Formats: sequence, C-alpha cells, structure tokens
Amino acid sequence: MKAQCIIRGLGLKVPKKVVSNADLEKLVETSDEWIVTRTGIRTRCVANASETCSELALAAAGQALDQAGMAAEDLTHIVVGTFSADYVIPSAACVLEHKLGLKNRVALDVSAACSGFLYSVEVARGLIALHPESRVLVCASEILTSRTNWEDRSTCVLFGDGAGAAVLTADAPGLAGGRIIDLLLASDGSLGDLLSVKGGGSAAPYRLGDRVGEEFFAQMMGREVYKHAVRNMTAISQDLLARNRVHKDDLDVLLPHQANLRIIEAVGRKLDIPPEKVFVNVDRYGNTSAASVPLALTEARQTGFIKDGDLVLVTTFGGGFTWGAALIRF
Ligand code: UT7
Repeated sequence: MKAQCIIRGLGLKVPKKVVSNADLEKLVETSDEWIVTRTGIRTRCVANASETCSELALAAAGQALDQAGMAAEDLTHIVVGTFSADYVIPSAACVLEHKLGLKNRVALDVSAACSGFLYSVEVARGLIALHPESRVLVCASEILTSRTNWEDRSTCVLFGDGAGAAVLTADAPGLAGGRIIDLLLASDGSLGDLLSVKGGGSAAPYRLGDRVGEEFFAQMMGREVYKHAVRNMTAISQDLLARNRVHKDDLDVLLPHQANLRIIEAVGRKLDIPPEKVFVNVDRYGNTSAASVPLALTEARQTGFIKDGDLVLVTTFGGGFTWGAALIRF
C-alpha cells in the first residue's frame, strides 16, 4: 500500500545577477522583441563563481526546512535533481549534506534534466513508502548557464540559474503542506538527441589539453522539442486526471515547467484550463531546468497564487526525453 506523502516546506534561491534581453542583444544577434514574442522571457538570473549548484540548493533548503519547522539534523535523506552539479564526483547531494553539517544520511543525485524535481519527488515517495519515518529533502538546483553556449542565440536566450527545495514526510492528520495525491512519470530515450549536453560524458570524453567544443554545452532542436513538450505534458496530465477521476474544472492551478510562455499557454489551452489559473514566472527566470517546478511552486505559494485547499496540477518535460505530472492538494 502506498504511504501518502506531504510537502511540509518549500524554498527557493536565485542568483543576484539579473540579465535582461537588452544585455543579450550585446552578445548575440537577437532582439528583446524576438525573445519576448517567441518565449515570453524578459530576464533570467545568472550565477557567479561562488553561486554553485550546492550553494543555491543550500539556501533553498534552509527556507524549506524553516517552513517545515525542522532542523537539518532531522533529515534522513537528501535527493538533488540536477544535471549541473558542482562536480561529477562528489554528487551535489553529498556536497549539500556536508554543507548542511550532516553525515551518514542517504544522499543521491537524480538525472532527469528539466523533469528532475518530479523524478526526485517520486524517489522521495518511494523512500517514504519503504521507511515511513523518513524526512526527505528534495532539491532541484541548476547552474544551467555553466552549460550554455553564449555564442548560440537559439539557446543562450532561454536559460537561467536557480534552485528550489521541498521537505517531504509521510502524511499524518493535522500536518500543513501540500499532499501529493498522485504522480506519473514517463521517458523516451529514442529522442535524446533532440536536447542534449554530451561533452565530458564517457561517450564524448575530454583529454588533457582538448579545447572545449560546442558539444560541451546544451544543444537543442527547439522546434521539435517544443512539439513533444506540448504533446507529452498534455497527454500525461490527462492520464493523471483520468486515473484520479479529477475533472479539469476541479483544478485551481495549473503549474507547468517554465520553459517557454507559448508552451505553457498551449498546454493550458489543450487541457482547457483558463489562463488565470495558469502560473507563469518564466518571464523573470527563463528556463531553469529541474529548478523550474519547485521555484514556481514556492513562488506561487509565497504570492498566494496557490491558496490553502487548492488542487494543483504540476506538469514537466525535459531532455531524455523525460516528462511527468503530479496532483497536489495544498
Ligand atoms: O526545458 C526543456 C524543454 N525545452 C523547451 O521546451 C524549448 C522548446 N523550444 C522552444 O521554446 C522554441 O522552439 C524556441 C524558443 C527555442 C525557438 O522558437 P521557434 O519559434 O521554434 O523558432 P525557430 O527555432 O524555428 O527559429 C525561427 C527563426 C530562425 O531563423 P530563420 O531560419 O527562420 O531565418 C532562427 O535562426 O528565428 C531565428 N532565431 C533567432 N532570432 C533572433 C533563433 N534564435 C533566435 C534569437 N534571436 N535568439
């Protein structure tokens, strides 16, 4: 039997430096008008050298723990969704564990690109089902700009850095938070080439003295990814609603992965959910990959866009391909 799971606290952190479309006009042949019309993005945050994946995760985790009324020592597991960890080894989760002043926890990274948060939440749900006393910190933190080719206008205008965090435990009467009603995930490796970061992997290794090539950075066939993102987020959302017998009118908020305003709006239209119920912050942060969903969830709670009692449909899509959806009652 599935243990029911609750998000007890949420947190976020973004780098201080804000880069506008006008700033990018000085780097590549682009315009504010093109970026806003095609993506809805106006600004993004870009990390400096000290704002690493684990540093942003640490700050977001602090907020989430405060909201949960817990101390770091209370945590039993640390799961980090990222593809831009501080290092290949040690994992972002082990670096974060150390920064939290902890030892002897279970710490692991989850690689699912932009779907990293929902994939990590599913891991947390599994851990809680296996060990109901678990208190799991799930972070999604990305320094996407460390894998951004600033000479490629088709990608560099899209990405930003940031982190979100959630503390999850088994549900119990009287607890405040977001109850995860159900979660559905999927993937299709045959389409992996459409969105990739290959350089530095064991199939595309670097040798001492090699120059860093384009394959070191995120590469994307935007148009194709766009179509799959809309199709798959819509389909998995419909499957999740159907299997829980939830009607779209019962939803208070739709919170999609923040990759592109046109994708967000298209998913909303296909699910027939009115725009005023759809949460958007891609205009200020760009696409922050795995961090996008917890950043959006935290902001939506902090601003009151998601209210107590609201039923929220979250959906995500990313490289791999990976995608998913979750139903959460706050
Ligand atoms: O997070 C994981 C999921 N990722 C996504 O969901 C991203 C999905 N894809 C997209 O969001 C969109 O496909 C993009 C925003 C990346 C691109 O929008 P598009 O409407 O699909 O444009 P396009 O790639 O077809 O390019 C249209 C034109 C091209 O010029 P030509 O060939 O028509 O002359 C591009 O060279 O726009 C040109 N272009 C630009 N122009 C000015 C591409 N990037 C830029 C740019 N500024 N930054």
